[in-house]
Amino acid sequence: MQEISQLQDHAITEVNAAPSTTVLKEIRIKFLGTAGLISGKLREVGSYQGDKKAFGQAVNAAKSNVESAIATKEESLKQAERQIQFEAERIDVTMPGRPMRVGYEHVLQQTMNKVKRTLGGLGFEYLESPELELTKYNFDALNYPPDHPAMDDQDTFYINDDYLLRTQCTDLQGRVFETQKPPLRVFTTGRTFRNEAVDRTHSHTFHQVDCFMIDKGVSMAHLKGTLGLFARAMFGPEVTVRFRPDFFPFVEPGVDYAISTPKLFDGRWVELGGAGLIHPNILESYGIDTEVYSGFAFGLGIDRIPMMAYGVDDLRHFLENDLRFLEQFRTEVV
Ligand code: FA5
Repeated sequence: MQEISQLQDHAITEVNAAPSTTVLKEIRIKFLGTAGLISGKLREVGSYQGDKKAFGQAVNAAKSNVESAIATKEESLKQAERQIQFEAERIDVTMPGRPMRVGYEHVLQQTMNKVKRTLGGLGFEYLESPELELTKYNFDALNYPPDHPAMDDQDTFYINDDYLLRTQCTDLQGRVFETQKPPLRVFTTGRTFRNEAVDRTHSHTFHQVDCFMIDKGVSMAHLKGTLGLFARAMFGPEVTVRFRPDFFPFVEPGVDYAISTPKLFDGRWVELGGAGLIHPNILESYGIDTEVYSGFAFGLGIDRIPMMAYGVDDLRHFLENDLRFLEQFRTEVV
């Protein structure tokens, strides 16, 4: 019996000295677990040589004394541990806050927004076409004869024989002609891709705006008027525009479109894109009567617009995500 009370005292001493709930758990296992020292005594009751009943009662009493010592100790340890955690997680409400970064649109997005406002204001409807495009809309629908060398200027990333990353936003035309009838005034803006030797003015990924109008009696005069208005809206009233003959399979006649303004590049001409009257082959292939309807189209590089407007010498800066560069074009989103 004395042995039992010694065991109990020993257990309670250990319980009281336990520094943490983890150690307390180990003590519980040591004395009260299935293979524990006190539990072992309970199993000895049957073979005890002497007063089995008294021995059993003593073991049970020791067990419940140790259990209640553990419960009391556990409560006080938990409280202490909570206090430590509370101290560690205490929030100092007097500390200065971290400043919130206010977002702003990328300079190319700002340019595209301005293009959208300008062409939207002239009555053109904004539509979208996919960046991962069918070869059919990027080339075939645009009067490129199979294997025509004009496609070499626009080599791109082919996904398979049918799909490619579009090289020009002119892919919109075929999609619109399949579903809508003239009169049409439509434009789109977006990302375009080419397998290009990258330099200051050429990137593998760039942005274009592409626009076209089909109606009765549309002529080069409408095209020149629209692109003149567009240039003045984007660059200011002093800008002059220039059209020179150029070739694109989808226009006839075709022109290149350049602008000059005394403020930029010492007034030198800078080419923005191509334009022309939509080729009759295209209109006829979509059942549009070319005796009644004609149309103009133009496609411009968007990245070149902020290059000129802000005197940026290398368009690669636009895609490198260097905030020191981009923050110069910060306008807070409203
Ligand atoms: C075209 O992409 C024609 N789709 C434009 C067009 C539309 C002509 C409708 C007639 C009618 P071009 O390949 O020239 O044309 O590209 C147009 C403009 O996109 C270029 O003038 C230039 O501003 C821009 N651009 C072309 N390639 C790159 C490039 N690799 N990096 C940056 N800008 C580019």
